[in-house]
Amino acid sequence: MEKQVLDKSFVPYLSKADINAAIEKMAATINADYDGKKPLFIAILNGSFMFASDLFKKIEIPAEISFIKLASYKGTKSSGSVVTAIGLESDVFERDVIIVEDIVDTGKTLSEFLPQLMHQQPRSLKICALLHKKEATKFPIQIDYMGFEIPNLFVVGYGLDYNGYGRNIDQIMQIKE
Ligand code: XMP
Ligand code: MG
Repeated sequence: MEKQVLDKSFVPYLSKADINAAIEKMAATINADYDGKKPLFIAILNGSFMFASDLFKKIEIPAEISFIKLASYKGTKSSGSVVTAIGLESDVFERDVIIVEDIVDTGKTLSEFLPQLMHQQPRSLKICALLHKKEATKFPIQIDYMGFEIPNLFVVGYGLDYNGYGRNIDQIMQIKE
């Protein structure tokens, strides 16, 4: 069924069952890959809150989770925008870190954040993203655990928003062209 979010119409794209199946798979792979380890999940707010919650419930190894926000500042003309992490309380040094993102689009956000995190010398650093708009890539990011590769179309729901709205939709919907 079509849904209106603010001034735009969206149509169903990934159902609750689709999302759940993808998360089951990702969680099973992570459970196996990190057997004997105690990873630290770092979920990037706001968009990833539902995904992180559902994924984390399926993690069966001992694990911690921390939530951060990334704020962009307009830097000097040479450096462009600079991303700063807010709320990272956990010590990342020598931890097995798994970043949890709702969607990787151009890859810009992670391409700025990952090097900062590497400075803190985690033992390992992997990326788990529910969605990847591969065609939109400008800054290539290696996604280690991925739910769906999707076309370069705007999506909402399941935590993802259009101008702040639509996060509460319990499935992922695509903009109607
Ligand atoms: P980059 O380009 O840095 O973008 O990889 C990642 C961030 O952009 C937002 N984004 C979206 N949000 N529907 C959304 O609700 C989309 O289709 C979409 N594409 C990108 C998102 O916040 C993500 O963290
Ligand atoms: Mg986001």
